[in-house]
Amino acid sequence: MEIIRTIDKMQTKSLGLLRSNKTIGLVPTMGFFHEGHLSLMKEAKKDSDIVVTSIFINPLQFGPNEDYEQYPRNEENDIKLAEQAGVDILFMPGVRDMYPRKMMIDMTINERVNVLCGRSRPGHFEGVLTVLSKLFNIILPDKTFFGMKDAQQIAVVNALIHDLNFPNELIALPTVREEDGLAKSSRNVNLSKIERNEAVWLYKALKHGQRLVVDGEKNPAIIEKEVKKIIENKTSGTVDYVELLSYPELQDVSTIDQQVILATAVFFESARLIDNLIFDTDGSLVKHIK
Ligand code: PAF
Repeated sequence: MEIIRTIDKMQTKSLGLLRSNKTIGLVPTMGFFHEGHLSLMKEAKKDSDIVVTSIFINPLQFGPNEDYEQYPRNEENDIKLAEQAGVDILFMPGVRDMYPRKMMIDMTINERVNVLCGRSRPGHFEGVLTVLSKLFNIILPDKTFFGMKDAQQIAVVNALIHDLNFPNELIALPTVREEDGLAKSSRNVNLSKIERNEAVWLYKALKHGQRLVVDGEKNPAIIEKEVKKIIENKTSGTVDYVELLSYPELQDVSTIDQQVILATAVFFESARLIDNLIFDTDGSLVKHIK
């Protein structure tokens, strides 16, 4: 595995690969790998000649009171894990290389951001789309791999790729979970032992919501209320949101008559966790989104 730490070297490498007709699969990450990341890398390997994984904790997507400083880091271990997963190139640019000065260009997102994490984290998705546009132009991927835990990110990145004609296909893969159902996340490491045990209730509550739909409930407000009640009763966390919306449009729905997402975010003491389920009108889970 080759480690590249500068934009210049990475872009030169990508251009060379492109000219020799090699396909590039990109797994963009902020590091501190868990099995969710590794599953994306392994899938990318099946699908591309060269797998590039980027590690960059993007300051632009963190708000002033968010966990940029506390975001877990372990470069040495990430290098080992990426190598084991079959990554060909690990791209780890520095902040000064990515943002040598304040950006002169800003992203504005008009849809899919005034709900869920976009509402709670103003500027977050604009920061995500900025860094991804840069990574797409530096790495020139044919395909980019994302986990469905970040379903709103997928909806917004799909819009970016479509609206700006990036010659790049987004591949979304299922959320990888712990044995008890908790979605794998780098931030789980910042949970206390008690919180870790409680955190499984995000998933259990969402599953209960989905079960209501399977049993015939069509009213989003009733489902949201029940899911919220379970999380509030079973955890010490503070619910940021529980929302049921159309997917991928992320619009309010008055009844479940199309594919929807049921999503939640919960603040624990030192970590804000998110999770979601995407399902059809009859409550059957959508495992692969296109
Ligand atoms: O999902 C993430 O880890 C980040 O939002 C991403 C896509 C690497 C952009 O910084």
